Amino acid sequence: MKLYIETLGCAMNMRDSEHMIGELKKQGYRATDDVKEADLILINTCSVREKPERKLFSEIGQFARLKKPGAKIGICGCTASHMGEEILKKAPSVNFVLGARNISKISEIIHKDKAVEVSIDYDDSTYVFDTARNTGVKALLNISIGCDKKCAYCIVPHTRGKEISIPLDLIVSEARKLASKGVKELMLLGQNVNNYGVRFSTPHQRINFAGLLREISQIDGIERIRFTSPHPLHMDDEFLEEFASNPKVCKSIHMPLQSGSTKILKSMRRGYSKEWFLNRASKLKSLVPNVGIGTDIIVGFPGESEEDFADTMDVLEEVGFDTLYSFVYSPRPHTESYDWGENGKIPQEVASERLARLQNRHKEILKEKAKQEIGSYHRVLIENTKTGLESFSEGRSDNGKLVKIPGEILTIGEILDVQISENDGGSLIGRWVR
Ligand code: SAH
Ligand code: SF4
Ligand code: F3S
Repeated sequence: MKLYIETLGCAMNMRDSEHMIGELKKQGYRATDDVKEADLILINTCSVREKPERKLFSEIGQFARLKKPGAKIGICGCTASHMGEEILKKAPSVNFVLGARNISKISEIIHKDKAVEVSIDYDDSTYVFDTARNTGVKALLNISIGCDKKCAYCIVPHTRGKEISIPLDLIVSEARKLASKGVKELMLLGQNVNNYGVRFSTPHQRINFAGLLREISQIDGIERIRFTSPHPLHMDDEFLEEFASNPKVCKSIHMPLQSGSTKILKSMRRGYSKEWFLNRASKLKSLVPNVGIGTDIIVGFPGESEEDFADTMDVLEEVGFDTLYSFVYSPRPHTESYDWGENGKIPQEVASERLARLQNRHKEILKEKAKQEIGSYHRVLIENTKTGLESFSEGRSDNGKLVKIPGEILTIGEILDVQISENDGGSLIGRWVR
């Protein structure tokens, strides 16, 4: 039997898809890239913004036309969570709906018809871990599920439920298992990773995220640890110091700003101010001079004045982010700001113009930073090689940059010193310093 799966959204969805693939393998399914030969078609959906959600129904229609007779269609993930039954009503070709909080029920639900499993209270935190992964040298590992924050614009708490941390011993035993399979780098996953330890579903020793990093870094074979997403509010000194001093923790970090205006941050309910964010970024840079910092920014949140936007540009200027994911605000159901309706609404053309200004300035900043890279040294984990006329090896530097080493086929999984000679815009070009 063949499985076709499409994964939208964030790294948590990628991991959920891996998990489902793993469960379904045990039921005899094999993955296919051709929807026409699939016996089971899954779409693992994202609902963080409206546009991809709108596209979902046309895609279901397309799959329904292409699929072979008797093949089933299942809608999983965040849109499944918040639309539930409605998906079956709108798209009768769908056989089942499985919410982001119920992924571990995949093996049961495929045998049912017109089933909906979207309970938000379901405790999926003790995942069955012995499932397939895309293991090469890197692996994704959940450390928590759900989100306890109430950011005014965000649908995620509604789709993934309350935050529950995964017990330390489960995380450690899974990390050990991965190390024994050759994994060198872990990406720890959660919506608020640095809030780890706040709530477990069973009695548990006291531990915070810095403590978890210390525990994981004891594991032989795990050479690198990354995580996403941390929340700026929980970037206390203990966390920043552990980040800086733990040699296994990679020196790139996501610091989702959302807005640079303290007034807007307040109405977004982010819990921090412009000053706090700048203070944390500057502390981080003083502890780790070549740290890579990435961010997410929402432009055109209700009530955002030109002055508020100038604050966002200000933070961009001061921090000089290495990566930027930026979006125009999209009103989402089940969120606080959705209920504000037209109140404070920023016209689409104003928001789009601001977004373009932000992105253009960021491109310039990246160009300026790129020049500084020439001649610098990076520790690179080799992840890929390509043989042939234009042979090369490539991998990521400790601080998160893609580095290409032309003309050499290096060993996948090795961590090597590379000196940068060029920057082609997409990736850094360098040579292995033996
Ligand atoms: N837990 C993460 C974010 C998860 S959602 C955090 O706290 O940063 C991923 C990103 O989508 C967010 O960082 C935000 O920039 C964006 N996003 C979320 N809701 C949005 C909305 N309603 N409109 C536009 N962008 C949104
Ligand atoms: Fe959404 Fe805020 Fe939770 Fe991130 S912290 S998932 S933005 S509610
Ligand atoms: Fe999207 Fe759900 Fe992730 S809404 S961003 S897939 S948590």
